[in-house]
Amino acid sequence: MSELADVLIVWQRKHGRHHLPWQDGNDPYAIWLSEIMLQQTQVNTVIPYYQRFIQRFPDLESLAQAPLDDVLALWSGLGYYTRARNLHRAAHLIMTEYQGIFPQTREEIQQLPGIGRSTAAAIAVFAFGQRDAILDGNVKRVFARYFGITGYPGETGTLAKLWQLAEQSLPGNDNPADIKTYTQGLMDLGALLCIRRNPSCECCPLQHECVAYREKRVALLPASKPRKRLPEKQTVFMIYRAKQKLLLEKRPSQGIWGGLWCFPENALDKNWLTAEGSTHIVELPRLMHTFTHFRLWIHPQLVEINAEMDSIGKMTVWIRPEEALDLAIPTPVRKLILQHFLNDLN
Ligand code: ADE
Ligand code: SF4
Repeated sequence: MSELADVLIVWQRKHGRHHLPWQDGNDPYAIWLSEIMLQQTQVNTVIPYYQRFIQRFPDLESLAQAPLDDVLALWSGLGYYTRARNLHRAAHLIMTEYQGIFPQTREEIQQLPGIGRSTAAAIAVFAFGQRDAILDGNVKRVFARYFGITGYPGETGTLAKLWQLAEQSLPGNDNPADIKTYTQGLMDLGALLCIRRNPSCECCPLQHECVAYREKRVALLPASKPRKRLPEKQTVFMIYRAKQKLLLEKRPSQGIWGGLWCFPENALDKNWLTAEGSTHIVELPRLMHTFTHFRLWIHPQLVEINAEMDSIGKMTVWIRPEEALDLAIPTPVRKLILQHFLNDLN
């Protein structure tokens, strides 16, 4: 039925993980606990926590009766404590609303606090042998690569496509044990071979059918989160030039370009300008500078004046363009000087 499933099942039997402590039975409580711990934590870290936890709270009832503080204490070090609170709440719920019997369908399991679709499916598969699709972070990566899905997996349409592929790729019904082997195989492949960086494609059983591998797009998939369009701001650089010198102003230490030498962003006092006989203003081509959180469009205005003035109130200097390059100046100031004010020197 599915080439992927057949290959994965054979591979899992030979190369997958087989002796994890939650794999030796099909107690839904133990499997649930392990899946919650494994949601945001790697297998090797989880194992000792899992063993301490299951020793102290061997079943649903003991967990439901425990004070939350005791549960949190055992969780201490695993992080993401909401997982522990939800676990405790869910244990209560199962005791009260389900007569202490763990719900057996994916849809019901998914209603419990802290359990999304993929975790619910994993529990339904491992505890009850149900045929259902998982799609956790690792599995998204495997499918995005194997099927060559280009969209960002967090985007709704891409996610729907991945779920569809996950469902279509399930093994057939011939052998009921296959679904567990297949599901574990997907998890193992994603954790052991098809890892985020430098996956081991050379040893991968899916290599021959893998779109990303065939098209040499492994490093490009899955697509990373698209960058948000940055907001845009505008500013003016007043470039005063007198006797081949430019006027630079030291910016206040706070704010963007703090402490750097820059063209003034505001026009100088008009009275001073007319007194000194400003001649003409030339608009230079705008340029864009990208900061982390916004883009700045800079509109440079070149103002030719007749005489330089020693003191213009703020921290300012009249300086030759080539000397300005030795000062602490921000990139767009450097660009402007290189583009417009160095040619006429030589
Ligand atoms: N990650 C999530 N569930 C897992 C499982 N059952 N075995 C190994 N890694 C997992
Ligand atoms: Fe992942 Fe490489 Fe295997 Fe494709 S061939 S599934 S990219 S490990």
